[in-house]
Amino acid sequence: MHIIRKTFGEMDNNCYILFDRDGGEAYIIDPGYEAKKIEAVIRKHRLCVQGILATHHHYDHTDACEQLRKDLGTCVFMSGKDAKHYKGTVDRLLSEGDVLKIGEEVLRVIETPGHTDGGLSFLCDTSKCIFTGDTLFSTDTGYAIFETGSPDDMERSVKKISTLLSDDYVVWPGHEENATMAFIRRHNRDFMEYVQGIHPAHTKMDPESIRKSQ
Ligand SMILES: [Fe+2]
Repeated sequence: MHIIRKTFGEMDNNCYILFDRDGGEAYIIDPGYEAKKIEAVIRKHRLCVQGILATHHHYDHTDACEQLRKDLGTCVFMSGKDAKHYKGTVDRLLSEGDVLKIGEEVLRVIETPGHTDGGLSFLCDTSKCIFTGDTLFSTDTGYAIFETGSPDDMERSVKKISTLLSDDYVVWPGHEENATMAFIRRHNRDFMEYVQGIHPAHTKMDPESIRKSQ
């Protein structure tokens, strides 16, 4: 599986295009901006897009979904809980254990609520990587204080990720650079505090900072 990362928007959102080099089957993860630029990548590599996967409903991860859905004639996939908050069309609801194929490789849907109550991650065991949206970043974790967020859910999700992934897995987050789990275990204090059950859960932010960070 080949991974292209495109970073767009004022919050440096990562959009991922995953594809099989032989067959050209592709999925797009979290297109928040610049549908035309994403379409140019699809055309350049002659990809056949099987669907658009949203880790969660926030606009910076989904605002380009509608346009891409229309232009590429493809489907949008999201969790049922987050689809309720999304204004565009969702064609298929995803939940824990669903699998999506990219050539010979399998993307497994992992429910990781906490940032939103329907947050998803997409795990590929063959390529040893995971796409975590705003659940887990390289040096931080996502805020758990939005309307459907929950620090308790976030703690469970972080522990779940930690249990599932050995040090050699690569995390591709919704913001920031990618990193190995070894790096995250060594340098990501938020992650380790959740794993240990001692995280203060970002409860001290003022409303303006919260709005900006969403
Ligand atoms: Fe978000």
